[in-house]
Amino acid sequence: MISPHSLRGILPRGSTLFVAVSGGKDSVALLHSLWRIRGELGIRIVAYYINLGIPTFSERSEEVVRSLSRDLGIPLVITDLERDFGFTVPEASRATDRKPCSVCGIVKRYLQNRVPRELGASAVATGHNADDFAKFALKDLYSGEALWLSKISRILASEDPLLLPKLRPLIHRTGEEILTYVEENDLPYVRERCPLAPRRDRFLEVVTVAEGIIPGFRKGLVRGAERLSKSLKPRTPPLVRCSICGEPSSTDPCSFCRLRMAVERKS
Ligand code: AMP
Ligand code: FES
Ligand code: ZN
Repeated sequence: MISPHSLRGILPRGSTLFVAVSGGKDSVALLHSLWRIRGELGIRIVAYYINLGIPTFSERSEEVVRSLSRDLGIPLVITDLERDFGFTVPEASRATDRKPCSVCGIVKRYLQNRVPRELGASAVATGHNADDFAKFALKDLYSGEALWLSKISRILASEDPLLLPKLRPLIHRTGEEILTYVEENDLPYVRERCPLAPRRDRFLEVVTVAEGIIPGFRKGLVRGAERLSKSLKPRTPPLVRCSICGEPSSTDPCSFCRLRMAVERKS
């Protein structure tokens, strides 16, 4: 699923890679395939799960991640949003009147950088696949935010010492290829979608229809966008330090602290 060549030179031998695992098929395949090549790369891997406080879904997902990490002998770090930060995604969504997935995106981006970094990680890997990136590429072009295409890349490096490099080793793998891998290796994964996710994802529907008409459309689009991304100036707004938590952010306070404060104000 992941060739060691594609990651060679990116992670120094002896370094620690945190793998963000949601329990879905993509990140389960990611964890398993990185676990297989960790010796060859000379790296240590740690699984990382965030319990977002979504009733039943978060508990079921946590159980899958716990069981897979245990079976593979991979250390697991869990952040429980309610226990560790005093709020859940549904609460923050209600307090701010924002869609749950937008709140959830803020929380994941923040924690997937802060927690692994504080625990000594050199980088963090996520399970985004070719379907996700094909959708992002279309959305970026359609909305006129073409500079966001600079984010379509296997590795997202940063000049800020507090921002970890992000790796997306499955960028060129389709959802079907990943599902086949998960089934062939008999890996546990969460089948249901998050109950708070929107029912329809129109850009994904467009990508799926296009793939039906032009087989290979997703991979082609991602390859093209990735090539283009190399010639674009990365779209990174100037970062400041959040005056509350000290994390890098484009606003002060950062979006995560603002969510936290909104929940506190409401309660
Ligand atoms: P999503 O943002 O749900 O499309 O997920 C994209 C990637 O983010 C997944 O493949 C995982 O690597 C990571 N991820 C999503 N949800 C979680 C979670 N609750 N805990 C840890 N990592 C997650
Ligand atoms: Fe984001 Fe469900 S709200 S995964
Ligand atoms: Zn902050």
